[in-house]
Amino acid sequence: MKKVLLVFQLFLLVGLITAQKSSTNLPAYKNTQLSINQRIADLLKRMTIQEKAGQLNQLNGGVFTGPALNDPGQKGKVQMVRDGKVGSFLNVTGAKETRAIQEVAVKESRMGIPILFAFDVIHGYKTIFPIPLAEACSWDLKQMEINSAISAKESSAAGLHWTFAPMVDISTDPRWGRVMEGAGEDTYYGGLVAAARIKGLQGNLDDAAHIMACVKHFAAYGAVEAGREYNHVDVSRVALWNKYLPTYKASVDAGAATIMNSFNVVDGIPASANSFLVDDVLKKRWGFKGFVVSDWGSFGELINHGYATDDKDAAMKALLSGSMMDMESKVVVEHLPALVKEGKITMQQVDEAVGKILYYKFKLGLFEDPYKFSDEAREKAVLFSPENRAVALKAAQSSIVLLKNNNQVLPLKKSASKIALVGLYAKSKEDMFDFWIANGDAKDAVSIYEGLQNKLGAGSIDYSQGYNADNTTSETLINEAVKSANNADVVIATIGLSGKLGGEERSLANINIPEAQIQLLKALQKTGKPIVVLVNSGRPMVLTQIQDLSTAIVQCWILGTETGNAVANVLTGAYNPSGKTVMSFPYAVGQIPVYYNHFNTNRPAPDPGDGAWKSRYRDIPNQPLYPFGYGLSYTTFAYSGLKLSASAIAKTESVKVSVNVTNTGKMDGEEVVQLYIRDLTASIVRPVKELKGFQKINLKAGESKSVEFTLSAKDLSFYDANGKTIVEAGKFNVFVGGDSKNTLMSSFDLK
Ligand code: BGC
Repeated sequence: MKKVLLVFQLFLLVGLITAQKSSTNLPAYKNTQLSINQRIADLLKRMTIQEKAGQLNQLNGGVFTGPALNDPGQKGKVQMVRDGKVGSFLNVTGAKETRAIQEVAVKESRMGIPILFAFDVIHGYKTIFPIPLAEACSWDLKQMEINSAISAKESSAAGLHWTFAPMVDISTDPRWGRVMEGAGEDTYYGGLVAAARIKGLQGNLDDAAHIMACVKHFAAYGAVEAGREYNHVDVSRVALWNKYLPTYKASVDAGAATIMNSFNVVDGIPASANSFLVDDVLKKRWGFKGFVVSDWGSFGELINHGYATDDKDAAMKALLSGSMMDMESKVVVEHLPALVKEGKITMQQVDEAVGKILYYKFKLGLFEDPYKFSDEAREKAVLFSPENRAVALKAAQSSIVLLKNNNQVLPLKKSASKIALVGLYAKSKEDMFDFWIANGDAKDAVSIYEGLQNKLGAGSIDYSQGYNADNTTSETLINEAVKSANNADVVIATIGLSGKLGGEERSLANINIPEAQIQLLKALQKTGKPIVVLVNSGRPMVLTQIQDLSTAIVQCWILGTETGNAVANVLTGAYNPSGKTVMSFPYAVGQIPVYYNHFNTNRPAPDPGDGAWKSRYRDIPNQPLYPFGYGLSYTTFAYSGLKLSASAIAKTESVKVSVNVTNTGKMDGEEVVQLYIRDLTASIVRPVKELKGFQKINLKAGESKSVEFTLSAKDLSFYDANGKTIVEAGKFNVFVGGDSKNTLMSSFDLK
């Protein structure tokens, strides 16, 4: 017995020694007891220059299972993974697909470094939320954070680690299709929205339910000339610092893991190779710790810009500026080894870039469990769940903006028992969805037709198409719509543009309502029935003609999965609309760019008044049709008693601004109370109004609330042309109101 015990003890001892030995044999980068930085340093020591170049390479993926894998292109990509030449894929999605290619990376490549999977999850992965521009009209930062968190939850369950969102480009040009991806025209608001979205997407990046954000497009991409995609940008340094850069800065401060170079030039130097932007501003001034990825092919396209002679030169110039990962132009994976050999790029520079990418692979826990995001069971449970859809409905209804209402037609009366629903976009699900829908499926969405049927019963809705997908109409289509209108109590006409005309590479010179739809509305108007116009569009359109052809106008944007239910809730008053515009709606295309925070000029035109020899148009007003911050409710709000706590403050002090807001109507409602300032005289001229605060409040019918804001020196500051913060003494006007135009005013001095 004693002998048996001895053998057993010996056995244990050997086991212990081998275990200890194997844990000391473990390469340091696999040792979870060490810090991430120690693990990175060890890994970098073991990697060849080709493997390092591979980490900087992001390829467009595709399908890596089943028959698709027989495609030579896909096979070639798998081989590149085996050879350690791919650090990240974009456009590989789904737990199964991501797992299949991750297994090759981890099990068949020399170093077994896991791959980062990225995708454009712009407003939802499977459950589709309103487009970001619409979502921003809710002025509900918490809601936006929750929406992003759900996008992250669904994406992460489908194997993704990273999305190319949020887009934080400020734009004042609705011809640019990409305005649908942003938060509108205001820099201050854009920064807050960006931070909320990043928080929702990333959380602390320490579980498998959040993903990395990628702030894009750095920088000033929203300023593309004439709203044309991929076009030239020319902005002054003052505009760069004050208007364009602050949203990226707010994103860096919010902890964004990654940032994307933009396609355009800044001061004549392409952003992807612009060391002022990437090295000086982003890394040195703002202390950005994450990594920088190019936009699609933007390293290689340095040649088209006329900034690099060939691929090798392009790779060198991009990397030397501080940019890091090469999305799809393949110039880095191809040429980095030679550039290092020739001494054009140092190993230290390479290690710095590669280390930043590896950092996130460690931080996400991929070295411990490369498949933790690729979980088919979780994917099945999480995607398009009823809970996610319930949130999408909330988000959609709060994104809708009521632009016009004579209070006789909306909310729909119970007696409006017969509705003529007109317009292709009320029924065609494809047109309700835009270009950036990740893995969403239009078939899953609720159309306006279905939403109204759900709410009011199928019997009360008579549908007619009104116009064709190519924006033509015919006598037959118009007659059918008119006949339906004649038999109804109210007409609901859905007009605008197909959602497919919003997003990247969808710039439009003409953002008027198509002529066929105008013709249709004119015919419908002759019936004498009230006409509720619903506008389906990914951008503010010119609605000037619609003002006279409608009884009410509802800006529905592109609302995602729950479109129909959200629209029905708003039309029936089950939800009292509370959205406010975040981009001015132009009066005419020729007015673009038109925005609330414009400058006074030497010859400001009075509004209203005589504009002779002033800065004006002879044929149209200067003012947009609907200003920034504008939106109606089924109730009304009155503002009174604007008070400042002091008439003068020192730079170390702050001033309290208070105002009374009363719900003067008959319905409970929400109001977005907005605070603006104007710096009347400054060493660099300042806009006529600048948003500096807002609060979305609930008021019961008849209820009043005092709303308070605080303004401190930071709110009164601006940047000079070198990015230095300036706070200057002088007089400031303070405005408070329910939009950027109709406000109460007071003023104080900064001493
Ligand atoms: C767009 C980016 C996008 C990328 C990847 C580019 O063309 O400009 O916004 O994230 O493609 O799809």
